[in-house]
Amino acid sequence: MRLGANIDHVATLRQARRTFEPSPLFAALLAQQAGAHQITLHLREDRRHIQDEDLELIKRAVHVPINLEMAPTQEMKEIALRVKPNRITLVPERREEITTEGGLDVVRMEGYLKEYIKGFKEANIEVSLFIEAQEEQVYASKRVEADAVELHTGRYANLFNAHLIEEARKEIERLRSVGLKARSLGLKVYAGHGLTYKNTPLLVKELKDVVEELNVGHSIISNALLWGIEKAVEEFLKLLR
Ligand code: PXP
Repeated sequence: MRLGANIDHVATLRQARRTFEPSPLFAALLAQQAGAHQITLHLREDRRHIQDEDLELIKRAVHVPINLEMAPTQEMKEIALRVKPNRITLVPERREEITTEGGLDVVRMEGYLKEYIKGFKEANIEVSLFIEAQEEQVYASKRVEADAVELHTGRYANLFNAHLIEEARKEIERLRSVGLKARSLGLKVYAGHGLTYKNTPLLVKELKDVVEELNVGHSIISNALLWGIEKAVEEFLKLLR
């Protein structure tokens, strides 16, 4: 499986002080150097983490593919067609949410999305839809002519984290069967959300023949922070000698 490293929460930390550090651009370059197959970032309508300038800088500096997560709005369409990421992933967005909750309701938005997606096809930008693992969403994704679906793994992650392993396995089965359906229709299949160092191994073992790529953000950035604290404190202490 490929890894899309999502660097949004580097920007979350920076925005907490509205300063220049930590830099999402540096984080993207380091993730690339460590072997990430793709850099994923979400330019939210409320700009709570990634800013427009981050997207432009990262697009220019990074050579692995860029996956831009965004709400299907006209503003985001204009930005994406100008910056030209390799892929856009359409996600639902609500201002009050803590993170992307639930998948895009492609069934309900079918007419709108079909029109919306056309411009990206012409611009050679791959279109992926972040959906719940439900067959009707997969069929609708095919009808609107998306190239790929990203299956929402949040439910699986929550079940695993709550030690409900049998239920988590059932959720994996659902992801598997919906993923296979998507592949049979010619859609590429990715997955992500809520994945951690603990809950990812089981998912990889069971889905590696169905899912091509995982997009992981919060857990990677969280661990990067903790794994780096000792060095950061040691370096600061040197300044005090
Ligand atoms: N995939 C999609 C479509 C997302 O919206 C997100 C969250 O921005 C992720 C993956 C990554 O989720 P997490 O930060 O929980 O790893």
